[in-house]
Amino acid sequence: MAKNKSTVFYCQNCGADFPKWQGQCPSCHEWNTLVEETFTKEEKKARTAVADAKTSTLKEVSAVDTERISTHIGELDRVLGGGIVPGSLILVGGDPGIGKSTLLLQVCQKLSRDNVRVLYISGEESLQQIRIRADRMGEFTDSLSLLCETNLTTVRGVIEREKPTVVIIDSIQTMYDEEGGSAPGSVSQVRASTGTLLQIAKGMNITIFVVGHVTKEGVVAGPRVLEHMVDTVLYFEGDRYASYRVLRGVKNRFGSTNEIGVFEMRSDGLSEVENPSQYMLDGRPEGASGSVVACSMEGTRPILIEVQGLVTRTSFGNPRRTATGFDFNRVNMLMAVLEKRL
Ligand SMILES: Nc1ncnc2c1ncn2[C@@H]1O[C@H](COP(=O)(O)OP(=O)(O)OP(=O)(O)O)[C@@H](O)[C@H]1O
Ligand SMILES: [Mg+2]
Ligand SMILES: [Zn+2]
Repeated sequence: MAKNKSTVFYCQNCGADFPKWQGQCPSCHEWNTLVEETFTKEEKKARTAVADAKTSTLKEVSAVDTERISTHIGELDRVLGGGIVPGSLILVGGDPGIGKSTLLLQVCQKLSRDNVRVLYISGEESLQQIRIRADRMGEFTDSLSLLCETNLTTVRGVIEREKPTVVIIDSIQTMYDEEGGSAPGSVSQVRASTGTLLQIAKGMNITIFVVGHVTKEGVVAGPRVLEHMVDTVLYFEGDRYASYRVLRGVKNRFGSTNEIGVFEMRSDGLSEVENPSQYMLDGRPEGASGSVVACSMEGTRPILIEVQGLVTRTSFGNPRRTATGFDFNRVNMLMAVLEKRL
């Protein structure tokens, strides 16, 4: 098939593409983010393909209730909307070192105990490194297989041979699709790789979890387009210095996006926090001024949180207001309402 090569300038921040280089991205206004990337475009397929394509009515589509696979991690199942939907593509994003690999290896552990065939493909860590992490977590069964690979053509081959039910790709930024043309991690590569994984997931009815690194702006590197392609987007967040982690659904084609999952990072992996309120209020001083307990709704769960306020005399001419962990503009708005009405 004839291929024509062309070059495009992709913004590495937002993923917009432009025919010419510019210093500033017109779309997201970041400087120096445009990078030239080549991509190969397949010539339009012959029109005969259209004649073969069959349409079907809704009634003809088999309505077998697709059974969800439980991960046996309650907090994760909740965020997924009640378990893994077969054939779905799930993106797990998060800051470096937040525990993405740990969470997914734990999913592997639980699924393999149920004799679900799982294939963990790492492009970042050696088998030894994965072994060290696994040893901390405890028992694994033989229905989990590991592979260190970055070439997606090989990955596809292995998946076709092994026919697993669930595949983990750690991470999308390390994967390399020969069709993509440019370097791993670049926008067009990430896009091409995700496209290939999407084909595998839908074509073979395999659930694929994809790890995505997050840029300093807090979006998955190689960006929004990726979020449109996948079925579910989960973000793993939390304080790197505190041990609790929150898993949040940002997009879910099979469930609500309001639910959160709360975990605690321990030496043997992530453990579920079933009563986040207790966790949030842990160590709260009794009878201290400026501390109040409030109730916040996260999905279907009410969570008790502690709000602290502090007022001191200022040594400057203008007093200053600040907020941490809460939108500052919203604080100003609430203060204005209080001053006006009370
Ligand atoms: N022995 C240990 N005890 C407690 N916590 C540990 C231990 N070893 C690692 N951790 C925690 O695990 C985290 C790393 O987890 P993991 O490798 O799963 O993160 P990741 O999100 O996959 O990171 P990366 O972006 O580098 O792939 C560390 O930040 C640390 O908090
Ligand atoms: Mg990792
Ligand atoms: Zn941009």
